[in-house]
Amino acid sequence: MASLFPNPNFTPISHFIKPTTTTPTRVLLYSNTKPSKSSTPFTAIFCSSSSPRSRPTYIPNRIPDPHYVRIFDTTLRDGEQSPGATMTSKEKLDIARQLSKLGVDIIEAGFPAASNDDLEAVRVISQVVGNSVDEDGFVPVICGLARCCKNDIDAAWEAIKFAKRPRIHTFIATSEIHMKNKLKKSKEEVLEIAVSMVKYARSLGCDDVEFSPEDAGRSDREFLYHILGEVIKAGATTLNIPDTVGYNMPNEFGQLIADIRDNTPGIENVIISTHCHNDLGLSTANTLAGACAGARQVEVTINGIGERAGNASLEEVAMALKCRGEQVLGNLYTGINTQQIVMSSKMVEEYSGLHVQPHKAIVGANAFAHESGIHQDGMLKHKNTYEIISPEDIGLQRSNESGIVLGKLSGRHALKTRLSELGYDIDGKELDGLFWRFKAIAEKKKNITDDDLKALVSDVVFQPQVVWKLGDVQVTCGTLGLPMATVKLIDADGEEHIVCANGTGPVDSAYKAVDHIVKVPVTLLEYSMNAVTEGIDAIATTQVLIRGDNNHTSTKASEETVCHAFSGTGAGMDMVVSSVRAYINALNKMLGFRNQPELKVKAGNLML
Ligand code: KIV
Ligand code: ZN
Repeated sequence: MASLFPNPNFTPISHFIKPTTTTPTRVLLYSNTKPSKSSTPFTAIFCSSSSPRSRPTYIPNRIPDPHYVRIFDTTLRDGEQSPGATMTSKEKLDIARQLSKLGVDIIEAGFPAASNDDLEAVRVISQVVGNSVDEDGFVPVICGLARCCKNDIDAAWEAIKFAKRPRIHTFIATSEIHMKNKLKKSKEEVLEIAVSMVKYARSLGCDDVEFSPEDAGRSDREFLYHILGEVIKAGATTLNIPDTVGYNMPNEFGQLIADIRDNTPGIENVIISTHCHNDLGLSTANTLAGACAGARQVEVTINGIGERAGNASLEEVAMALKCRGEQVLGNLYTGINTQQIVMSSKMVEEYSGLHVQPHKAIVGANAFAHESGIHQDGMLKHKNTYEIISPEDIGLQRSNESGIVLGKLSGRHALKTRLSELGYDIDGKELDGLFWRFKAIAEKKKNITDDDLKALVSDVVFQPQVVWKLGDVQVTCGTLGLPMATVKLIDADGEEHIVCANGTGPVDSAYKAVDHIVKVPVTLLEYSMNAVTEGIDAIATTQVLIRGDNNHTSTKASEETVCHAFSGTGAGMDMVVSSVRAYINALNKMLGFRNQPELKVKAGNLML
């Protein structure tokens, strides 16, 4: 059967990557990260944590080390375009900070021309995260997306110019189907617009300009080489090749990159990038094929979120390069601190409201679970019989290493230790808030399980800024009479509001009471509840999705107007309380989405 990846011996990529042997290197390792009594030297084939390689100096159009692959994260731009994934400026800032800890080279912080809120969110990220240089001198590039038009480019520059390393990313479609039906422009017109807009972006003083021929995966090759050559002359420093609709096969996409490298005049002076969508489930494979064929930037998102079926997932691409880069992927490597993967994944899951499927590679709940007897037996004999990645590598500990059992006598330190074993990097005020909620639950529940803790983190840490706070809720329901709820909410000034309402059941009654107080018309799009642990004292988590009836819209990069939906989660031992918390959290997120003047930056520090 033909290989899905371009064969390094036949494609014209060999001057970039040395052809590698197809026989994996045999690595001498011990059986576990902690040598045990039975550990004997063992020759195995699995992921070894080789010593980290350093990140080369950042130069927009050149990477001093030919094996280094830049990670361009577009969670906050393409990822946020996923239906229902709306995030507030504060949430975007938290994610950008986390991406910086994760070590991504470039953060695409948003599409500033979409709305004033989007511009503001990108501006704050460029001021705060774009100026936070770490002890190794690393600071991520902050990028803003712009269509090929002056207004968009001005908005992008306005938002990113505060960063130490600002980048404008401008795009225009180059496929026949897009040019004819969407843009209604000829090839010559598209070429002229692309060239003049790249020049315009450079003329603003931005020396880092990325150009994307949208739908490159379905574009005419000769036209692609020509337009790419011309934008290089106009000053583009990175050329991104999007498979916008996820149509390409890995060998095809790898060949596309190789052909672009061979046929585009001036290509040796710029970085080639991949941007692969997942419509056929091939985005990670296509991205890796592109890197093998010479791309040195890959555009990815956390958890693979993004338009339709999503984008290539950062954790899959980064772990594939870490595990197999040396052996079969041309010795490529990234600057990702993989131990921050779990925290990044959880944060994006919580803030976007897009849940990670249990069997998702790397970050799914079952990614390290071994259910069958044969597998468990193998695991007990040697971890690497069924595990190619060790959980520690992505920031998880193997089951309860510290042996901590959390209960009502546990202190803050024990809580923090267990949280970090679960991949959560939480301290300061967030840890305080969590600790008091934990204590309250522990009064009623003997042992707090890991799942209880995860539900609490979701309910306490990953929440929007408070506009309305739940005071009390009281319901009467049953087979006799009308279900009735009394709800007390506290507003931002500390004033209490109490309303009584009836509905079709206890949750409906409570939601109606909340509506009477908050007085913002919304439609409840989705409601779901789960018991996170077994038994009568289980914690219930609720997820809701709402849409404001008085529109919260913005323009997407694809020019559609989107009506934002807002997610909320809540947790509690009482199902109605959990439901009301989720609803209030979604309302707070919606109310906090617009006009967030409280996000002000002074001398690089965010004032909340
Ligand atoms: O998928 C795509 O083509 C894009 C471009 C804006 C790069 O997201
Ligand atoms: Zn995209």
